[in-house]
Amino acid sequence: MIRVLTPDPTAIDEAVALLRAGELVAFPTETVYGLGGRALDPAALARIFAAKGRPATHPLIAHVQGADDARPLAATWDARAEALAQRFWPGPLTLIVPRAASVPAALSGGKPTVAVRAPAHPIAQALIAALGEPIAAPSANRYQAVSPTTAAHVVRSLGDAVALVLDGGPCAAGLESTVVDLTVTPPLVLRPGALSMALLRAALPDVRLATGVIDDESQRHSPGQDATHYAPRAPLSLMVRDAAIEAARTHPHAVGLIVRGALPSLLPANVVVHVLPDEAEGFGRALYACLHDLDDAGVDFIVVELPPDDEAWLAVGDRLRRAATK
Ligand code: TXA
Ligand code: MG
Repeated sequence: MIRVLTPDPTAIDEAVALLRAGELVAFPTETVYGLGGRALDPAALARIFAAKGRPATHPLIAHVQGADDARPLAATWDARAEALAQRFWPGPLTLIVPRAASVPAALSGGKPTVAVRAPAHPIAQALIAALGEPIAAPSANRYQAVSPTTAAHVVRSLGDAVALVLDGGPCAAGLESTVVDLTVTPPLVLRPGALSMALLRAALPDVRLATGVIDDESQRHSPGQDATHYAPRAPLSLMVRDAAIEAARTHPHAVGLIVRGALPSLLPANVVVHVLPDEAEGFGRALYACLHDLDDAGVDFIVVELPPDDEAWLAVGDRLRRAATK
């Protein structure tokens, strides 16, 4: 039976006991909720893939307290990894480094590399510290569904597949971590995320953005570059504001509309409208919760105002384009 606990030391103890027994525990991070299992235990890793319905070739991120716990997971930990960890951890940055021989290949979906990140959320930190081992944690949703930013989203997406959800309230960033591959030259951002390109570039000047969606499987650096990720149940379209409002107005059934800034006037009752902030951080924080709400509302179509074509909106634009119906 799934249980949701508001963490205090007792809840953390219970979570640790479950993890030690090979069970899965969902926990909040500053980005999205993670589905945690022991990162160095192949049986726990298999359970994570099964719970999500995710192919075993899609690598997981090992969550650590900081650089001291990340170094032993890496075959080589170079000066750039150390500098980035010192600068941005704990925080929403995932580093891809060569995998140490002691780390199960299953964690990395068989790849010779490993993803490591130190999450900033105090509950995540407390859990990793109390377990005393790295925690593998993909976003706590079914494969290709929208990531959870509240404990309720986790319960709805994973149900009984998770033994316990630690409830830390809504996530502060609301979008996943930025993933940067340090095993290639120049270093590549495989997934834009909650750490902005501007901040990352200031610390890693030669960093480049990998092509957003790479259709040729052999050219993919990360399975997360799959086209169909982060999608709600209802088909989703991106349109400029006026076209989005018009499409929602003329839709014959229940329809979701997500716009920025101002509330459109005179919408018919079948339009479920969400007005999000007209700045990227605020929009990103609220986006997944809106998509979850619209799925719950049972709309059969979602139309979203096209985000600005600006680097600050990179992560939001990436998630929306993946969610959009092609
Ligand atoms: O914010 C986050 O990163 C959240 C929270 C829970 O920490 N976790 C998360 O995990 O988003 P997941 O499994 O949903 O996404 C991990 C991403 C995927 O795009 C995956 O392909 C990529 O990281 N990744 C992991 N290991 C990799 C590796 N060895 N090489 C390339 N990409 C890797
Ligand atoms: Mg995910």
